[in-house]
Amino acid sequence: MKILVTGGMGYIGSHTCIALHKAGYTPVIYDNLSNASIKVLDQLEVITGARFDFIEGDILDKAHFKAALVENNIEAVFHFAALKAVGESTEQPLRYYQNNVSGTVAMLEVMKEVGVNRIIFSSSATVYGDPQYLPIDEKHPISATNPYGWTKVMVEQILADNCASDDNALAIALRYFNPVGAHPSGLLGESPSGIPNNLMPFIAQTAVGKREFVSVFGDDYNTPDGTGVRDYIHIMDLAEGHVAAFSAHKQDSGFLPYNLGTGQGYSVLEVIKAFSASSGVDVAYKMAPRRPGDIASNYAEASLAKEKLGWTAKLDIKAMTDDTWHWQSKYPNGLE
Ligand code: NAD
Ligand code: WQD
Repeated sequence: MKILVTGGMGYIGSHTCIALHKAGYTPVIYDNLSNASIKVLDQLEVITGARFDFIEGDILDKAHFKAALVENNIEAVFHFAALKAVGESTEQPLRYYQNNVSGTVAMLEVMKEVGVNRIIFSSSATVYGDPQYLPIDEKHPISATNPYGWTKVMVEQILADNCASDDNALAIALRYFNPVGAHPSGLLGESPSGIPNNLMPFIAQTAVGKREFVSVFGDDYNTPDGTGVRDYIHIMDLAEGHVAAFSAHKQDSGFLPYNLGTGQGYSVLEVIKAFSASSGVDVAYKMAPRRPGDIASNYAEASLAKEKLGWTAKLDIKAMTDDTWHWQSKYPNGLE
């Protein structure tokens, strides 16, 4: 079965292509390369032994997207393509709404036209806004605190409305907590351009000598050691969660949201400690003021995915930091 993977050259999409291939599906990648390297395709081939079809294209280009669906006999779409930098989204909100929201609407129009009615969407725990209780289950009220987050809230609403209007349509929204790690081969991982916004790539770049120290944003939160607590999930577990969700609901319809997390939180200092152990480098850090907009703690109630999809995260914090280090030390500058 052929699955079109929008954003399939990016961090999460590329790892999910590996999981799809392993499960017997055929991924066809559709990506405009705005935040990815063409070399990902070669790495995927070394890892899987298969050369995946790649179409360079933009989700806003309806004619090109339609041709990609029709010419490849696509039966479902895994939709990763989006802009994802929270800070940038507050500076360029229209660009984010255009790419993430208008882009998805354009895709859904084409999918309806050609009769492809299954979509798996990359949502985010950001749709829960400021947590009102922990752990966060799927019934937690939906909100957002920045334009990026609102694009996820809006797309979820659009998907739900579209499913409500069409008895055969299926949309699964996977709400990721904090994806980290890399393929265990060390051949594929995350390589953000510029200064990393997220904790794990910043630690990795510090360990490899590209940054002097990690700034720990706040040590006076109401958490065991005062630093922020998050639910980090290994990228390969996350990738397999997509396959599990699709396989479980292939014959179903409706809008189905799921958390993909481990249910376990780790503090900033715990992650730095784990990374130091994995890398053998004593990762330098300094306490710094809180980052505006950050919350103290965030972690998932992960039991719905376990019950309905038969999926749970298997890999622990050590696997996350080991695999990040393997990739970072092998490719200190990413694939470029
Ligand atoms: P990424 O930037 O590595 O991957 C996104 C890919 O989409 C890139 O390869 C980019 O070139 C492509 N793309 C962007 N706009 C496009 C367009 N208009 N047309 C075609 N291709 C386009 O990001 P990622 O971390 O792999 O994230 C994948 C998805 O998961 C995104 O939707 C993101 O919002 C979501 N998500 C990510 C995280 C995270 O922490 N990484 C957390 C929650 C949700
Ligand atoms: C984790 C913890 C920071 C960097 C973001 C998005 C969210 C989602 C995932 C897409 C926090 C601390 C960080 C640093 C630090 N993305 N930190 N020093 O903020 O939980 O989530 O990525 O949907 O929408 O907001 O992840 O990795 O940025 O931060 O101390 O240099 O690390 O304060 O406690 P976050 P993060």
